[in-house]
Amino acid sequence: TGLAQAQDLPPLEQKDSYTVGFAQSESNNPWRIAETKSFQDTAATCGWNLIVTDAGGSAAKQVADVDSMIAQGIDVLFLPPREESPLIPAVMRAKAAGIPTFLVDRSVDPNVAQAGRDYVAFLGSDFVDQGRRAAEYMMENFEGEQGLIIQLEGTTGSSPANDRKSGFDEAIAGNDKFQLLESRSGDFARDEGRQVMETLLQAHPDVNIVYAHNDEMAIGAIQALEAAGRKPGEDVFVYSIDGTRDALQAIIDGKMEVTVESSPFFGPLACETMKRYAAGETIEPWVKVEDRIFTAENAAEHIDEAY
Ligand code: AHR
Repeated sequence: TGLAQAQDLPPLEQKDSYTVGFAQSESNNPWRIAETKSFQDTAATCGWNLIVTDAGGSAAKQVADVDSMIAQGIDVLFLPPREESPLIPAVMRAKAAGIPTFLVDRSVDPNVAQAGRDYVAFLGSDFVDQGRRAAEYMMENFEGEQGLIIQLEGTTGSSPANDRKSGFDEAIAGNDKFQLLESRSGDFARDEGRQVMETLLQAHPDVNIVYAHNDEMAIGAIQALEAAGRKPGEDVFVYSIDGTRDALQAIIDGKMEVTVESSPFFGPLACETMKRYAAGETIEPWVKVEDRIFTAENAAEHIDEAY
């Protein structure tokens, strides 16, 4: 109930300016850079004195970054937890210190920490649905007789990797036309995606589908495929998630089939949700972001707004 929430969660005062922490997990891909920029662009209009940290791909560093923000006495914390479990103690410490916390874009293990009790809310996409939509597009459009799939997973233990895998795997289960050859992590990174694809291509030369949990790994996979003399878009079909500029260009060039959108532009939503909370509103546990889908039909229309 609203009353229980107000009692359990730290309140937020209504005032003109706030010291706000945004503890980014890493900055090695355009998605995360766009997300950080969205917070920075929102700061002035939302009255934020914004502290940004970059954990450089380490959950331990991200925990230390949050602890240091708590010590600095921030008013509000926005956190994209790199992985589902290691950040939970830091979320609990923020609550104990009286700092309302909003998880943005990634979530934590719901069996351990819960929105409305341990943190205010999760702001983000439905990752299970993204995986399902990538699978559905593939099942509707793949014209070969048998689809032999390599899946490139995101960061092990992260909510988008877990959910994009389960959404996709469940959608293809029971469909005899599609077979998952192998699924392995490329840590959401382009170069790792390229290297993993290189290795898996040797083990599975018969692959004709790549499903990547994000565009950076998809682009890396395309590079590996081309280096091995394969023709993405002709003899192997690539399905992905995010909607980066490079991915939209790859679609326009005929090398990628689809990218299901996952928007990184959280600044305005973070501002609005925080202000609603400060005004005493009960925030829904999951503030959902609706995602579009980019294919050869609309990629050119959207490339100018991409990041
Ligand atoms: O949490 C969202 C994911 O994180 C994006 O798909 C990916 O590109 C980023 O690293």
